[in-house]
Amino acid sequence: MEAEKIELQGPTNKALHEAAEKILIENDLGGYSVPNRDVYPFQWNWDSAFVALGYAQFNLDRAWQELETLFKGQWDDGFLPQIIFWKDNAGYFPGPEIWQTNQQPRTSGISQPPVVATILRQLWEQNQNAEAEEKVKQLIPQVFALHRWFASFRDPLKKGLVVTTHPWETGRDNAPEWDEAAKRVDTSNVTPYVRQDTKHLDKKMRPHKEDYDRFIAMVEFGRDAGWDHKKIIEESPFRVADVGMTMMLLRANRDLLVLAEQFGFEGEAEFLKNQISLSETGVDYLWNEEKQAFCSRDVISGESTGIISSASFLNFYADVGSAEQRAATEAHIDRIAKVSQFLMPSLAPGEEQFDAMRYWRGPIWAVVNYMIATGCAEQGLEKWADKIRNDTAALIKIAGFSEAFNPESGEGTGGTDFSWTAAMWLHWAGK
Ligand code: SER
Repeated sequence: MEAEKIELQGPTNKALHEAAEKILIENDLGGYSVPNRDVYPFQWNWDSAFVALGYAQFNLDRAWQELETLFKGQWDDGFLPQIIFWKDNAGYFPGPEIWQTNQQPRTSGISQPPVVATILRQLWEQNQNAEAEEKVKQLIPQVFALHRWFASFRDPLKKGLVVTTHPWETGRDNAPEWDEAAKRVDTSNVTPYVRQDTKHLDKKMRPHKEDYDRFIAMVEFGRDAGWDHKKIIEESPFRVADVGMTMMLLRANRDLLVLAEQFGFEGEAEFLKNQISLSETGVDYLWNEEKQAFCSRDVISGESTGIISSASFLNFYADVGSAEQRAATEAHIDRIAKVSQFLMPSLAPGEEQFDAMRYWRGPIWAVVNYMIATGCAEQGLEKWADKIRNDTAALIKIAGFSEAFNPESGEGTGGTDFSWTAAMWLHWAGK
């Protein structure tokens, strides 16, 4: 069934540009950006990487600073946390007193999608001068240490995949891909807690209590393991090979390899080449023959989730898949475009777990659209690259710089004045 067309209205591109810059400037709390000042009042890992792309459109120094500040939170073993708690803020739960990672600056104990190498390459290629060269040379070893960390602590099958131990680590917190695997998490001993997210946002946009209890139980599991990441990847009750992080890391490994070769990091380049070839074969573990799609897989049961989410379309961005796999993936895009007013829903309308306004169970994210469209454009799928970019621009015109968008109505969902949505407008959708 063809979805009914929505009439576009809203502010001009110029006004949106000004508004987007203003959001980034106001969400700058001193050398780092918060995703949103109320809901997420700290520095988040992959948000900051995307925000750097937005800053690079009007303040390149500030773009570099965003990455440099992020790496101030890196641990000695290369781990880069999901959150850095630079300043206290009681408006978010769980704060540093719950995570107890014993780090300075204070951080959480899980990571997030490692997109930073890809962004680093973009910043460098956008403006190659002596000052930028210093910065990129400084950052390459730090980013490399992060990629090595992923290889050591998130790839237990040694297939070049990312096996996550917490849904928050995937950045796609409440995706239905985690539902089955998360049932193994025992919530009977969770310390009583008070959520803050539902004080800022309508409950219908946020995870259910049952899911939240599991999120917190998984934090407590890591904390009780002393954030020993070797122990966690071996013993966590939740271990899922995430198609999203796997594709993003593969892409990031390719981008880091380009930089490593350009700047003479030979040992690092060798390591990255090995990781890339491992992943190129390893992603077959994620291919679901019945669904004809790349899907996350539970590594405890060995079962594929069988869920086609927006992350299933990142194989183009990672440049992987046989000709048949790529054709089947494109056929899914075509199918979803017929049932969703806008692309790319995090889960397609009509799927059992679809929920148009709820976190990662239907809504569209501008950053995911950007990665899917980038991959499509690089693979010659211009039709889809253009549609996804136009849809993203249309959504921002309808609902402003929301965290995410209802794929059927275009309505905003999650926080407003969101940094990475503003950044994606400046860098991509608004161009
Ligand atoms: N997005 C998560 C939250 O909702 C954390 O990364 O709290």
